[in-house]
Amino acid sequence: MMDVGRHPNIELMAYSEVEDISGYVGNFKVHVRKKARYVDATECTACGDCAKVCPIVMPDAFQAGLATRRAIYIPFPQAVPSAYIVNADECLGNNPIACGKCIQACDKGCIDFDMLDEIVALDVGAIIVATGMDVYDPTALDEYGYTSIVDVITSMEFERLISAGGPTEGHFVRPSDRTRPKRIGFVQCVGSRTLHSEKNPDGARGNPYCSNICCMNTIKDSLLLKDHYPDTEITVFYMDIRAFGKGFEDLYMTSKAKGVRYIRGLPGEVVADDATGNIHLYVENTATGLLEEHDVDLLVLSVGTVPCKETDLVRQLLTLSRTGDGFLMEAHPKLKPVDTPTKGVYVAGCAESPKDIKDSVTQASAAAARAEILLNAPKIKVEAITAVVDPDLCKMCGQCAAVCPFSAILWEKKQVARVVSAACAGCGTCAAECPFDAITMRHFTDQQVYAMIDAILETNPLEKILAFACNWCSYAGADTAGTARLQYPANARLIRTMCSGRVKPDFVWYAFQKGAPMVLVSGCHFADCHYINANRQTVRRVDALWEGLEQHGVRPERLQIDWCSAAEGQKWARIMREVEELRAAVTPDEVERTQEALAGKKVPRTSQVWRLKAPAPATLACYRCGHTWPVTFNLEEDKERMCPACRSNSVRVVL
Ligand code: FES
Repeated sequence: MMDVGRHPNIELMAYSEVEDISGYVGNFKVHVRKKARYVDATECTACGDCAKVCPIVMPDAFQAGLATRRAIYIPFPQAVPSAYIVNADECLGNNPIACGKCIQACDKGCIDFDMLDEIVALDVGAIIVATGMDVYDPTALDEYGYTSIVDVITSMEFERLISAGGPTEGHFVRPSDRTRPKRIGFVQCVGSRTLHSEKNPDGARGNPYCSNICCMNTIKDSLLLKDHYPDTEITVFYMDIRAFGKGFEDLYMTSKAKGVRYIRGLPGEVVADDATGNIHLYVENTATGLLEEHDVDLLVLSVGTVPCKETDLVRQLLTLSRTGDGFLMEAHPKLKPVDTPTKGVYVAGCAESPKDIKDSVTQASAAAARAEILLNAPKIKVEAITAVVDPDLCKMCGQCAAVCPFSAILWEKKQVARVVSAACAGCGTCAAECPFDAITMRHFTDQQVYAMIDAILETNPLEKILAFACNWCSYAGADTAGTARLQYPANARLIRTMCSGRVKPDFVWYAFQKGAPMVLVSGCHFADCHYINANRQTVRRVDALWEGLEQHGVRPERLQIDWCSAAEGQKWARIMREVEELRAAVTPDEVERTQEALAGKKVPRTSQVWRLKAPAPATLACYRCGHTWPVTFNLEEDKERMCPACRSNSVRVVL
């Protein structure tokens, strides 16, 4: 941090918050609120005279609430700049009747209660998001006694207790009687690897993912304790020890060799023995199958990580997407691990997923290098598949701008929409949305798609399945099925679009008018759309199409929607087999009737169809656990499209 503060090319804006971000790659405009410190940081020498006279005493968040601070304080010992700040919400104010003691105590006159917040506008070319994570709060886990037993602490509190800069200056004592604990227990996976279920609907009792760092943190802590206090008895209660990094297994073995006991099983109950001050644990040892009882003097809950609480705000500011776990999603987990779907925005550290220091440093270096490559390029190259607005056809409705996941369309009332090519990723959802056909997707034009539908249905249309497949997942899934030599019906004809969001409802109507027995729209799983959330628009359009088909006397089953990732060749083959079964049930008479019904009628425009309200014609089903639930048609509610029982994203629509 000191190095960063001193670096000539880095401007460190401490005690500041990003308020707004606009623009696009190479031309971002960022508004930052520099909060008033009420202390002149350039003059303050951190002598501490002001804090000595401050009458306000508050829990110190940096010391995990184990120590106190004043209303004028230094947030943490290594803070840069090393200067005091006043918490205006806690301070009694500078009125001498109320307080104002710090002003009198400061010889250098650094304290200024007239300071105001300042909004700073920055022009930047690239942005790296490194907002970190929070730790899980175990108060909901009554069985571990965190809220009722003083000597049950979290691993974060343990870190402060054992730190030389902590509230006890490194003297390791337990909170209840300030004596050194001789028997210490660690409980692993607190708040991690817990499926969301009826008993844990909102994740208060834990999250499904592994927090990555807790096992090694406990092993490190156990070694630290053994080095400082070799006579300490340490017992670790665990599900699995995940020591997968370089040298980590060695550390695990070393801790075992030094006498740390590992018991495979998590405590079912933790009770305090008031007479002895002991903590009593009941554990089923799953390695032996025996119920065991253990006594410890101090119990440390090895808490997992959770996304930083401001992650959603960052996501909205930068139009990023989140995974089902709540962390920010990268553009591609293998090929673009530090890029995000928004060009010019990179992600590093625990903002992306729980990770340790080494991985965070590696990822931060990669993100910095990616940003550097971008900034050093004389020109930014964009794929030539961007959207173009025809100003003569644009009726200035703004619907395209409303659905663009990248905010790449500039539109104001009574103004023709304008596409910022540098920000456009080419998903095509704007072109699918435009009710006036005013948007052309370069290389994926409407005419090209219609020509493909014509060619596919020119001969033996009754025998074919017309499938729209997104470039990144379902088309690649079909490829995977092919390269794996999987058997599936050979009568599917694929039309590749960059995203399923490009599938304009008129394409589907046209296909049915031309005699298609079955149409499939397929794309990436919900959290995996390569254009942030463009496939949510696909769902909305297909929902409306089902409704429109019913109104025209066409069985909605003839239009299917499904999600398939690039690795799911097996799934693609299964989808094809299921759709083929449905196709086989479509009779020539039925197709003829459909053609007649649609030929005499004007094909509904997309915007007219969506606004119709109808009962849900479909339910959602989870591939993983089989749970089913109805589609709500409320985009906000349906946003996650994640199984409420097991939180899997592998969800399909069933009719
Ligand atoms: Fe596959 Fe959007 S990229 S559905």
